[in-house]
Amino acid sequence: MKKITIAANWKMYLDEVSSIDFIEKLNAEKELFSNKDIIIFPSHTCIRSVKDRLNIDLKIGMQDCDIHNKGAYTGSTSISSIDIHSCIVGHSERRVIYKENNEIIAEKLGAVLSSKANPILCIGETLEEKNDNITESIIESQLSILPKDLNDRNLTIAYEPVWAIGSGDVPSNEYIHQMLSYVKNRLKSLYSDTDLDNIKLFYGGSVDANNLNDLIGIELIDGFLIGSASANFEKFKDIVKQLKL
Ligand code: PGA
Repeated sequence: MKKITIAANWKMYLDEVSSIDFIEKLNAEKELFSNKDIIIFPSHTCIRSVKDRLNIDLKIGMQDCDIHNKGAYTGSTSISSIDIHSCIVGHSERRVIYKENNEIIAEKLGAVLSSKANPILCIGETLEEKNDNITESIIESQLSILPKDLNDRNLTIAYEPVWAIGSGDVPSNEYIHQMLSYVKNRLKSLYSDTDLDNIKLFYGGSVDANNLNDLIGIELIDGFLIGSASANFEKFKDIVKQLKL
């Protein structure tokens, strides 16, 4: 049985006090949370406090990063500003709310790949794109920014249909499987078998303790990117309890 990864995208839900409170609750249940593949993505300003307090061997990531590494970029955060395990790029909230296009996301992906952190590239169609039957071409263009060679780097592709995020509207397992198969085939046409071994596929969008067990059944799934249910300690605990490994 493969080890499922849980990526907890706290978005802007938790301030510093609540992030620390969450970590203290995690620490108090060491047995449940140890030996699980969990990556927590706090707000940038809370990463230091979370790292300092965490007593369990969980990974910490950034929710986004700047395209630049250093310099006069007021208000931005560089991927090299702190040592982290992973960084999300291309989340639909960045694409839709902050108008980040594939070119910007390609630069962010490049910034992450030039650091030690592992990129998680989010892709997925909006409801309008789904209704227009252009999901596959949207995914294809979102994947077109991938580098030609991964050079032994890890990469995660998180398929997150925009209409499923925060809506409670989770696609059927068949639909997710169909999309992940499409992604996998695109990746096969781009990469060698060695590179493919370093690529993981996640699903994200309204995942919680009630649907996780069913979703784990999807053959191509390596993990889940979870938003609101991951920022509530009790809900997160119920999710992690369902992991066999
Ligand atoms: P959600 O968010 O779990 O709240 O739907 C998922 C995501 O945006 O990554």
